[in-house]
Amino acid sequence: MESARLMTLVEELARPFVARREEAMVLVLGLVSREHVLLIGEPGTGKSALARRLASLVDARFFKYLLTRFTEPSELFGPLDIAGLKEGVYRRITRGKLPEAEIAFLDEIFNANSAVLNSLLSLLQERIVYDGYSEIRTSIWTVIGASNTIPEEPELEALYDRFVLRHLVQPVPAEYWDELIDRAIVIEREGYEAPRPIVTLEDIAKAYEEIFKVDLSPVKDKLLKLFMIFEEKGMHTTDRRKGKAAKIIAAHALIHGRRRADLADLHVLRYIVPRDIDDFEKVKAILFEEVRTRDKIIQELGEIRRSLEAMKPEIKKARTYSPRLIDYYKMLNQLSNRIKSMVADVDDEELINMASELLDEIQELLSIISLKLSM
Ligand SMILES: Nc1ncnc2c1ncn2[C@@H]1O[C@H](COP(=O)(O)OP(=O)(O)O)[C@@H](O)[C@H]1O
Ligand SMILES: [Mg+2]
Repeated sequence: MESARLMTLVEELARPFVARREEAMVLVLGLVSREHVLLIGEPGTGKSALARRLASLVDARFFKYLLTRFTEPSELFGPLDIAGLKEGVYRRITRGKLPEAEIAFLDEIFNANSAVLNSLLSLLQERIVYDGYSEIRTSIWTVIGASNTIPEEPELEALYDRFVLRHLVQPVPAEYWDELIDRAIVIEREGYEAPRPIVTLEDIAKAYEEIFKVDLSPVKDKLLKLFMIFEEKGMHTTDRRKGKAAKIIAAHALIHGRRRADLADLHVLRYIVPRDIDDFEKVKAILFEEVRTRDKIIQELGEIRRSLEAMKPEIKKARTYSPRLIDYYKMLNQLSNRIKSMVADVDDEELINMASELLDEIQELLSIISLKLSM
């Protein structure tokens, strides 16, 4: 399958949402690498809506369920076949349930009680459910889990580790709230008008075969160095995750239409290495320091430009002494520092020009605010 279709899937998935491009990429990375994805975030950040949209855009059998502490195995894996039991055969009727699904969305997955936990572990690991006397071979390709928090209970640790890709879904930043209100309505309507599929699971399976052909040699040394740095900073990556990292890096290259990995692909480590909540920011910062690729800087500058564009009308129409102005003032100063540190040691003229345009823009907005606050 052409990589362009994978990228279209990312764009199409993110399209109706505000600031959910990264989430869309993580989900597609999960599909292409045949790994499971955990979305961690407070309620209402669009996790379910994203999974729902993905289910429409990919032609595959989909199962979704909201777990509670009382969820029983039969709700996920199908009820026992009573007729079979009378003949002494222990089997489940799996039609329409998790074992026959290809993509599953398990909301509040860490609510799993011990009765379902073991089955989930083997489902995620081996794609088989051991169920008393029988074993059920499942069709599961990718499980998307959602949770408000990272589990602290040791018995859930193994389940957490099965999610190779983990992503913190942050609430949309203030400068996008205006847009959020307009867009959320459109997404609600999608409950009734689902989009048409643009790829099939067979397409995804073909892409999966391709990732093994991606040449990782250009990033190998840097990857080893990064694992050392993470380890030194107290962030241990299990051997399982180290191994899986290669697949995810290759999948990222493939989605971007490359058969050779490049440094930009190493940024996927931000979904693989973090374990505790604080790790996510730490890993991101380390990657940013260690792998400053041109594309990455351009992308971040683009994001900053969009934030500025969203802020500009708000600042202009804000009333004198409005307390919001102080927030904007702080935000702009932070953005300005971020831009300066991003280009501190690059000597690429185009990047420097982009950065200085943005810095000028920020200066202008800061002086408007200063006037309104009579500073
Ligand atoms: N980033 C976003 N962009 C647009 N709408 C959003 C966004 N985040 C949330 N929403 C709106 O909020 C609704 C609730 O989100 P939901 O997917 O149920 O959140 P979660 O599953 O994280 O609790 C969505 O259906 C959508 O209308
Ligand atoms: Mg939800």
